[in-house]
Amino acid sequence: MIHLTIDGVSVQAEEGMTILEAAKAANIRIPTLCYLKEVSNIGSCRVCVVEVDEMEKLTASCNTLVRDGMSVRTKTDKVVRSRRMALDLILSHHNLVCFSCPSNGVCELQEVCHECGITESSYQSVRSPGIEVPAVEDNPFLGYRPDLCIHCQRCINTCANVSGCNAIKLTSRGIFRTIETPFGKNWKQTECESCGNCAEACPTGAIYKKEAKTYRSWEIQRVRTTCPHCAVGCQYDL
Ligand code: FES
Repeated sequence: MIHLTIDGVSVQAEEGMTILEAAKAANIRIPTLCYLKEVSNIGSCRVCVVEVDEMEKLTASCNTLVRDGMSVRTKTDKVVRSRRMALDLILSHHNLVCFSCPSNGVCELQEVCHECGITESSYQSVRSPGIEVPAVEDNPFLGYRPDLCIHCQRCINTCANVSGCNAIKLTSRGIFRTIETPFGKNWKQTECESCGNCAEACPTGAIYKKEAKTYRSWEIQRVRTTCPHCAVGCQYDL
């Protein structure tokens, strides 16, 4: 067992745990965005940063392992300032018209911004005003809105590590950085199986499922089927 303190509270953690996991086990909340348990801990958003006594710089708690005797602080002025700066930068290229977003109310970015007291970006948007960024939505089941994407890469790592495909990629650098999704015109020729795991992993509404809530009776036919993907053969009655 490893003994450390988080915000002055003595915490025990298992060897190999991250600071984030140890804090969670001790009911100490650290906000996250790009982290997805057992799927993605690339440490890119910097929202989960904490101060550790023996380290000069702030460190991402989602991918820093605990050490014996460590003293971690999650809410110092330096930490709060850094977290707010990270969110400020993320919002500078995010569409802030939440009202018309399908993820309004279930958006992790919205939640974390609210928690950290950020409502808008203090930077000029890198998007040209009035120019709509077209959605990629030729795939009948899934779509992608680049203007909502925060490049957290949770979709990429979910596609690779959970679905076993590599259908989503990160392209370009800097302000031109974007996610290349397989939902365009040639969606049938890609590795994508339209499983929807990427949409489940997305913390905003950038990747979304196109689910019809209701169907007209003459357009559907009830069949007994086995999903071709998982091979469990549950015979879920569609
Ligand atoms: Fe740790 Fe994004 S959640 S850096």
